[in-house]
Amino acid sequence: MTNSNFPKDFLWGGALSACQAEGAYNVDGKSLTIPEVMKFNEKNDRKVTKQIRVNWEMIEEARNDPDTVKYPKRRGIDFYHSFREDIALFAEMGFKVFRYSISWARVFPGGDDAAPNEKALEFYDQVIDECLKHGMEPLITISHFDTPIVLMDKFGGWYNRKLIDLYVNYCDVLFNRYKGKVKYWVTFNEINMSVKASAKTLGIIDYDAPNYEEMLFQGLHHQFIAASRATKIAHEIDPNNQIGSMVAYFTTYPYTCKPEDALQMQQDDQMKNQFYLDVLNKGEYPYYSKTYFKNKEIQLNIEDGDLDSIRAHTADFVGMSYYNSMISSSDTEQLELTAGNVHSVYKNPHLPANEWGWQIDPIGLRYTLNLVYDRYQKPVFILENSSGFYDKLNEDGTINDPYRIDFLSKHIEQMGLAIADGVEVLGYTMWGPIDMISSGTSEMSKRYGFIYVDQDDYGNGTLKRYRKDSFFWYQNVIRTNGAEL
Ligand code: BG6
Repeated sequence: MTNSNFPKDFLWGGALSACQAEGAYNVDGKSLTIPEVMKFNEKNDRKVTKQIRVNWEMIEEARNDPDTVKYPKRRGIDFYHSFREDIALFAEMGFKVFRYSISWARVFPGGDDAAPNEKALEFYDQVIDECLKHGMEPLITISHFDTPIVLMDKFGGWYNRKLIDLYVNYCDVLFNRYKGKVKYWVTFNEINMSVKASAKTLGIIDYDAPNYEEMLFQGLHHQFIAASRATKIAHEIDPNNQIGSMVAYFTTYPYTCKPEDALQMQQDDQMKNQFYLDVLNKGEYPYYSKTYFKNKEIQLNIEDGDLDSIRAHTADFVGMSYYNSMISSSDTEQLELTAGNVHSVYKNPHLPANEWGWQIDPIGLRYTLNLVYDRYQKPVFILENSSGFYDKLNEDGTINDPYRIDFLSKHIEQMGLAIADGVEVLGYTMWGPIDMISSGTSEMSKRYGFIYVDQDDYGNGTLKRYRKDSFFWYQNVIRTNGAEL
């Protein structure tokens, strides 16, 4: 397959998150985060998407339990200590960009500390300098699914307006410290996951509250203001800063050509995807969200100046992750469910799926890129894309993973076609260039990487890194700027 549509300065790379890779959960002053109280459960049925509902009982049980087998995200893949070796492997593949997240609970372990934790910043200094040493752009996610529990203890999470100031202060520290070193930032990872995964995104777990949904949208409102204020100061501190909005795009098709199905699809797309991108990129609450709130009797507490801030400081680029598509129908009784990223989705009879039931739809990526670019007229950055697979380490240290190459080559081909359609795509950070703990299931055996990490679901293994076949394949993709897939 050949494809030479990629611009010369296209940013090829990969993305990880601190809470799935870093480990060292209680080192150098760091406090506990939501993912670190989520247990690995081997009995879970992987083929349905069930969000673990983190509640206070689970948090209390986990607080004083130092177990890292039960709570795999506490150990991650020990990136805290192996980052030099791992970044060198990314450089060997030719990465131009490395997306990584900073742990808020490391930088401000007490939530409202008067000064940041210098030890934490020294760690991120080294990660960022290591990227720059290898000629890679560091792309930083400021908050990636790792709400510090202290912010829930003290303030009740994002429902409290106070978090806006705390977040903006945290951003201020990062923007000043990494001025001239980091240009690309993402304010919140997949901000549209909040409604489904509220613990790790908003730190709001009052599931039984009569106004629970209203609380979530109020928390989101605070995140929208926080994102706008962060964008404002980012531009003031360094006009070169490029601030990204980000959603997990749940691309949606109508199940049939029945007008009722098309209408259902439109409504699903609006409240699952567009709402978040509309606020962050167009700078206002769209009409359909106001209707949604009215129908659900949701009343947001919007203070003077909130909407002005959202309007004045919109994102510079549209960031999206793309894993699987979904279908909408006005009559769902006949449809079968399968797992998907955070949401269970209805099965599309035309698509294959991975072993976890996530459906594989490369053409959906081209479709989504065109949709999003047309709608916002801003450059698009694909911040995550890939699929989880089981891998086998051979005795000679090789890993044959043609399924991963097949998945990625088809998606990259479609991205190239979208660029040929005229979409401005800044870069592609595939998800999980090195195996790490799964966000949804806390498994280690759900692997995404080009680099195999010798560790099983229970933390057994040497943590040694091995290059998979796909490692050499991606190296060649980057070397040929996408001409050889
Ligand atoms: C994305 C998240 O939604 O999905 C990542 O940003 C996550 O953190 C990825 O790892 C894949 O999901 P999972 O559950 O397979 O790890």
